[in-house]
Amino acid sequence: MAIAQEFLEQLKDRNDVESVVSSYVNLKRAGRNLVGLCPFHNEKSPSMVVYNDTQSFYCFGCGAGGDVITFIKKIENLDYIEAVRLLAARAGLQMPEEGRDDRTARLKKRIYEINRETGRFYHAQLMSEQNKHALAYLTGRGLSVRTIRRFGLGYAPDSWDALTRHLRGKGYSDEELYAAAVVGRGRSGSVYDQFRGRVMFPIIDLRGNVIAFGGRVMQGSGPKYLNSPDTPVFKKSRNLFALNFAKQSAEPYLILAEGYMDVIALHQAGFTTAVATLGTALTSEQARLVSGYVSKVMIAYDSDEAGQKATRRAIGIFSDTGVEVKVLKIEGAKDPDEYIKSFGATRFKLLLEGSAGAVEFELARARSKVDASTEQGKVAFLRDAAAILSEIRNPIERDVYTAKLAEELSVSKEAIALSVQNILKKKVKDLKRKQSRELRLSVSGVDKLNPERAQHMRAAASEEKLIALLFKNPDYLDGLLEKMKPDDFVTAFNRGLFEKVCNLIQTGATPSLSLLAGVLTDEEMARLSAMLAGSEQMTFTKQQAFDYIDVIFEEKKKLTANDIANMDDGRLQDFIEDLRRKKK
Ligand code: CTP
Ligand code: MN
Repeated sequence: MAIAQEFLEQLKDRNDVESVVSSYVNLKRAGRNLVGLCPFHNEKSPSMVVYNDTQSFYCFGCGAGGDVITFIKKIENLDYIEAVRLLAARAGLQMPEEGRDDRTARLKKRIYEINRETGRFYHAQLMSEQNKHALAYLTGRGLSVRTIRRFGLGYAPDSWDALTRHLRGKGYSDEELYAAAVVGRGRSGSVYDQFRGRVMFPIIDLRGNVIAFGGRVMQGSGPKYLNSPDTPVFKKSRNLFALNFAKQSAEPYLILAEGYMDVIALHQAGFTTAVATLGTALTSEQARLVSGYVSKVMIAYDSDEAGQKATRRAIGIFSDTGVEVKVLKIEGAKDPDEYIKSFGATRFKLLLEGSAGAVEFELARARSKVDASTEQGKVAFLRDAAAILSEIRNPIERDVYTAKLAEELSVSKEAIALSVQNILKKKVKDLKRKQSRELRLSVSGVDKLNPERAQHMRAAASEEKLIALLFKNPDYLDGLLEKMKPDDFVTAFNRGLFEKVCNLIQTGATPSLSLLAGVLTDEEMARLSAMLAGSEQMTFTKQQAFDYIDVIFEEKKKLTANDIANMDDGRLQDFIEDLRRKKK
């Protein structure tokens, strides 16, 4: 669905990038721009810059970038139209052509129905006479029938087509089943049941929709757990298992476990705020989701080394969201499920109450790695400890821990504070270096968007400057086009981008990212934002524009014999034409 340009202009005027981004990210002023922690990757020091003049954002850490629409698409996990709709609602604008049910929305609705029906089917199978062994497996693991019902657990029969036949009978097409990912598709294109011979855990979103499944083998081969892939209604990285139940609890904290079975066992034992990630490591999106419900998270990961490592990662991710983290020490058992089985709910409750804070957890871990009774061990520990303290955002809190540590190790507080300061300073320097490196846009390795870039650095850089320049000075366009055509661009990617910007200006519009969001992919938007970010402090004269054009022509001339040999006829003709034009 194409959206009218005027409407997009209006949308953009009423949703300025600073106000939109700052409702998700804490922005600080830095000269003409604003900076903040990028919500699209995990970071401790801010690398996302918001540019008011171009109404764009760009992260120097992960390369995410674009306009307000891109930002909303990414952060809310919406498609283009949905993001426009959200921004329209935010600004109180009436969507044009509202009411026309678009295809994505219809497909999503069908997928929700399919998922619900699939969940029902699996549950009925679990409760049926012929699958007693599956029910016995779950009850054998200590789950009551009431718990099984509450979580809607099920069984996928060991068949290639039991579910497929059932759903076809309900009127769903193979295409729809495949889109819902409840079936796989063979080479010949025929579909088959995705989950076979597994106990099934439906994943339910906050509105109560079944959005995906996890399935566990009972015996036999294959991975222990199999999870739905991402679908139009499911994104692993944005959902948490059992959050639909946990959010109803009045407790001000969540318990974060690793596995489905841990969560279910915890709920059954009365800890109804337990949630788990869905077969992946915690993401910053999930942390943000959590921060919308609670101010505190108790991490109850497995007691093994992998679990401890994951705990450290999770602490880092939560520290960016302002959620307080406590760590449960699951000792004498593999995971919360087994802990409760061995020691009971009361012991787990004590564990919850005695959990250590994130900083204590990290300090204790660092301390356990050295022998703090030796000078050498003490120095090593202090070095690690300073790094841990440097991660604390709140200066008062940092000071408290610094004092505590100084006393414990009988060293001066000032000495510790100094090394913390040094680490912080180095971080700032690293960020600056990272930014200037990125500014040169010299993507190491293969640049997937513009694969010709590496070969034609100098030309590409000038092309990018020209594109950025046109954004700021659309009035130069006619003058530029007298000197060159888009075809003169050396790299095809930049040529395409340049053409799109030219076309836009020729419609009479002032170029803006928002007007291009509909015709560029997310990656292209990010790249364009990077170009704009790289030139935001510059003012361009017409002469500079001509200089860039000269560079492009110079570079073009250098195209080697090899390049010429590889040109298709059209490009070759252009090339010859060019040379002729230049000679005159
Ligand atoms: N997981 C997965 N794929 C695997 C193994 C694990 O997606 N092959 C995910 C599942 O979400 C699982 C979680 O990681 O719940 C934790 O895995 P693990 O500790 O191995 O399993 P448990 O939760 O202890 O499962 P169980 O008690 O059933 O053995
Ligand atoms: Mn387990």
